[in-house]
Amino acid sequence: MKLFVLNGPNLNMLGIREPGIYGKQDFNALIAYIHEVCQREGIEVECFQSNHEGVLVDIIQSAYGKADGIVINPAAYTHTSVAILDALKAVALPAVEVHLSDIKERESFRHISYPAMACIAQVKGKGFYGYEEAILLLKEHLSK
Ligand code: DQA
Repeated sequence: MKLFVLNGPNLNMLGIREPGIYGKQDFNALIAYIHEVCQREGIEVECFQSNHEGVLVDIIQSAYGKADGIVINPAAYTHTSVAILDALKAVALPAVEVHLSDIKERESFRHISYPAMACIAQVKGKGFYGYEEAILLLKEHLSK
């Protein structure tokens, strides 16, 4: 089983960026955590981060034929990107959307998610653990 884990804009600034919302741990710590979870679960994983919508679309397209599922935190593109939604629909791989913060408890413009419309689940407000939950959800879904 192979997963792609995608992180969108400004997530590379974790640790520096609004620590009261996103925590004090940096992006490298997040990637190390994801690798640790996947190793424990016997899952192969490739992690990506981009600040550019089109690059995220390219990565989702490249998952076709290479990955069995996608974990995605589209960050700010969550609330705007029909392109990311369409890319997820195009590859038709099971995907889980993750948010470190609880977007439903924040500004109203964060309540809408386009990519979630092509995801089997959305995990929010659980910090790094949300990625673990997403990986486990995909593992369970894929082993059915
Ligand atoms: C985020 C929530 C988004 O609203 C925000 O734009 C982000 C991070 C989260 O992980 O909580 O960049 O996706």
